[in-house]
Amino acid sequence: MGFGRGKVILLGEHAVVHGCAAIAVGIERGVTAQATAAEHDLLRLSPWGLSVRPDPKGDDPLERAFAVALAMYPSRPSLEISATVDLPAGAGLGCSAAIGVAVLDAIDGALGVERSRTDLATAALAWERIFHGNPSGIDNTMSAVGGVALYRKGDALRPLRSNKPLHLVIGYSGESSSTKDMVASVGRQLDNDPERVNKAFEGIEMLVRNAELAIEAGNHVALGQLFDLNHTILDSLMLCTTKLDEMCQTARTAGALGAKMTGAGGGGCMFALAPKHDEALRLRDVLGEGAFVAEVNA
Ligand code: MEV
Repeated sequence: MGFGRGKVILLGEHAVVHGCAAIAVGIERGVTAQATAAEHDLLRLSPWGLSVRPDPKGDDPLERAFAVALAMYPSRPSLEISATVDLPAGAGLGCSAAIGVAVLDAIDGALGVERSRTDLATAALAWERIFHGNPSGIDNTMSAVGGVALYRKGDALRPLRSNKPLHLVIGYSGESSSTKDMVASVGRQLDNDPERVNKAFEGIEMLVRNAELAIEAGNHVALGQLFDLNHTILDSLMLCTTKLDEMCQTARTAGALGAKMTGAGGGGCMFALAPKHDEALRLRDVLGEGAFVAEVNA
């Protein structure tokens, strides 16, 4: 069975596209996939009820991504891949990357290809490019490798260690957005006002550096404050929505140590850091439909 995790970017989204560091976690929810020999190539995605044939020139990015994935295995039988997606799409949890990782992992399994999760992540970047044009590589990497880690484009992933688990509560705004469009919007802001946007990136990089120390020291009070500050910078880049902002504020008022939007923004998800497991369960109920708890061990 192939598996690709969902991911939550704790700090550093968008800045990571432009060479800054980011910290992310892999979560237990994700995509599972099974590949079997068949009469023709087909990718089924449930619970969406979607069936896709590979087409390098197709209108649907899934058709093109599936063609790119299959082209990585030059001599192979035709394959039918059944994937089950347990993530909201367009919600900042790395759904497209998780599908890519799960599909490639399933094909590897069916064909007896053995490779490390890091190599699997590298292969899945080609899939991610179809969806996002200019991905930093953080989504496919965290989807394949998991854990809690500091990522910078071009550098080896740096796993972070701590003896204190992170009690995260993820809330879904119900608004979906396009990562490609949000990344392009930040790119335009950077072109038009490089001084302001580069200052924002420098601020984010500093928060990431401090968060690295806070995670390893188990200082979640400081970490929560860093999340709040990163949220404010992302808001200044026009990535936040009223709904996401309200959800973060609700979580803070209800006792979260910090809260921020996560991923591309313009909708999608936010997360809050809870001090303890039972507090996380309570915050999940406060955040309402679609919210869930992710306990992550660094
Ligand atoms: C999307 O999950 C994260 C972004 O930073 C884009 C990327 O890193 O490719 C917005």
